[in-house]
Amino acid sequence: MNELIALRGTQTSLVLERQAQGAPLWRYWGPRLADDFAAGPALADEPCFKGFLLDQPLRLDVFPGAGLGWFGMSALEAHHEGRDFAFAATTTAIERTENGLIIQLNDAVAKIAVALRLSLDPVSDVLTQSSELTNMGDTTLDVQWLASGVLPLPANCTQVRHYAGRHANEWVLQEDPLGRATWLRENRRGLTSHDTFPGAVVIADGTTAHAGPAYAAHLAWSGNHRQAIDWIGDGRWQWQMGLGLAPGELRLAPGESITTPDMLATCSIQGWQGAARNFHQAMRDRIDWPGGAMEPRSVHLNTWEGYYFDHDEAALIALADRAAAIGIERFVLDDGWFHRRNDDTAALGDWWCDADKYPSGLLPLAQHVRALGMEFGLWIEPEMVNPDSDLYRAHPDWALHIAGRAMQTSRNQLVLDLTRPEVSDYLFDSISKVIADLPLAYLKWDHNRDLVAAADSTGRAAYRRQTLAYYDLLRRFRAAFPQVEIEGCAGGGGRIDAGVLPHVHRFWTSDCIDALSRLRMQQGFLQFFPPEVMGSHIGTAPAHTTGRSQGQAFRAAVACQGHLGVELDLRTLSESDEADLVRWIAFYKTWRGLLHRQTWSGSASDGLVWHAAGSPQEWLLFVYRTEPTAQHFAPPLQLPFVASDARFAVRRIDPGHDGKIAAYDASWLHHGGLSIPPMLAERAVIFHGIAADTGGAAHGQA
Ligand code: GLA
Repeated sequence: MNELIALRGTQTSLVLERQAQGAPLWRYWGPRLADDFAAGPALADEPCFKGFLLDQPLRLDVFPGAGLGWFGMSALEAHHEGRDFAFAATTTAIERTENGLIIQLNDAVAKIAVALRLSLDPVSDVLTQSSELTNMGDTTLDVQWLASGVLPLPANCTQVRHYAGRHANEWVLQEDPLGRATWLRENRRGLTSHDTFPGAVVIADGTTAHAGPAYAAHLAWSGNHRQAIDWIGDGRWQWQMGLGLAPGELRLAPGESITTPDMLATCSIQGWQGAARNFHQAMRDRIDWPGGAMEPRSVHLNTWEGYYFDHDEAALIALADRAAAIGIERFVLDDGWFHRRNDDTAALGDWWCDADKYPSGLLPLAQHVRALGMEFGLWIEPEMVNPDSDLYRAHPDWALHIAGRAMQTSRNQLVLDLTRPEVSDYLFDSISKVIADLPLAYLKWDHNRDLVAAADSTGRAAYRRQTLAYYDLLRRFRAAFPQVEIEGCAGGGGRIDAGVLPHVHRFWTSDCIDALSRLRMQQGFLQFFPPEVMGSHIGTAPAHTTGRSQGQAFRAAVACQGHLGVELDLRTLSESDEADLVRWIAFYKTWRGLLHRQTWSGSASDGLVWHAAGSPQEWLLFVYRTEPTAQHFAPPLQLPFVASDARFAVRRIDPGHDGKIAAYDASWLHHGGLSIPPMLAERAVIFHGIAADTGGAAHGQA
């Protein structure tokens, strides 16, 4: 029997099998095994049908290579001037780290070395994998594909759940059957993209949101990417993820190395919602909060949909007064504040204040906001330039382009080549100059187009380096302004990923604030990221991007799932809507301590969707009716998340409803279900549930 190497989490285990030759084999990744598990015969000794097999057939290892007996997808596609296409790794060392392993591989013939890092976090059960490739040859190594990680998926997997979409309609769930055809998703837009989230969840037959095995992974990267699930001859699949590379983009000089972005993966037997909770924990560990810990999430007012480019200083000061009066805690001045930015045709790149709109600069407004007890935030879009800007007129060569090819604008703008140090320096200096003088707590960092012709000045593809330069620029701002939180935005959800998460504190989930659309999108977002970084605003009715209208209570109940904001023209609110808004903001402040903990989401029959947050002992439950009921009575809603064997006091608490306490047994809530009041379509009700043995005090209140 070959030596087995195991890593153990709380709910998951992984097992590799060391071979005399070659890289360690993937034996197992899945639900937690017993500490003293016995694994039967070695993988290499398993019975097989021998016809047409190699006499020493290859099984899935941690870094499968092409051309020497592995007929599946290779973890590496590379060559030295057209040679060395085939490779087969030899293990030179396996080193134990605190929660993981570093596996050193090498191929003396192909002249490459690879260090694989695997680490299984015992708390979150998230496995982090990355690969470091070194060119050991004396000519350039041209790399076309380098997997960040390779994962085995068991034979009972049947379906991939993944996300598509577009600007203002992100997180559209796709459910593809798994079969013999390679399942492949690639993003070539240069940033994470609205339409191809770099991650997915694979489930087995019968897996639901709350029960059964779910295997989930995503790539911590904000640029081009590829993910593939490839059937392998033993009935299992292998799952690879990595950078998407343009031809010639990654060429390693002799002795040079590259480390991939991390592939993050987890598995749960509590369905895909269990996998989501594991990811939430791991994502929380990646966030670097100013001051070291998250403060209760401030309620935002964002000026965009209410005011667009219409920046009138007196009106904005009046808006700030009104915002403070309704309970807003952070005032975010969106697009339109800088030199000649009157619409989206001009000015990106000219990062100084517009003297016509703000004759004394932004300081008076910012100070007014501060004096009202709110924080001040500002919108920027550093990576962009409008051809109609002083910056472009002075430096037309600073925009990404390919010599001899026409420039293609999108929203009238071009992308700056951040890989040129003078460009990044200009952006850092010019934007720093504006914000250094302000009492600034927050930057909303936008990026409003896809990349095309992303070449450096020598004509080589620069997608990857552009993403790295973006991270560097973020790092510079964080270091210079450590107290400032940053919101990641790219026309809403075009750059939401775990790669940028260490540099930001919130994502703008989507430019669509239609509550019905958001309900669905937020479920997608919450599959991978925790609610406290999910920007969710109460917008207007009708919604600007869909034309649909929902009542304010429904809009608010959807927005309360995440990090709450208000994005509408407060001047247009009726007295009663304003009074209700005040109540919703107060509601959010009361309960945000529970809202930003564990979450569970699901759907029930007859058009009901629900979201719960808190802990199994104390939770808030949002129940949304998305469609008119087809029944006379609503069926009770079964709650899979309540702590077993407790007795619960449950009360309806949405603003305007101080409901009576009803007592429920946990098993009743699980299997019998919570009684739901009659609801019209596009309405929500909110319940608070607390286990009797917690003393009846609401722990979640801030
Ligand atoms: C993008 C963002 C919006 C807003 C505008 C400003 O579309 O997603 O929230 O900031 O840019 O131009």
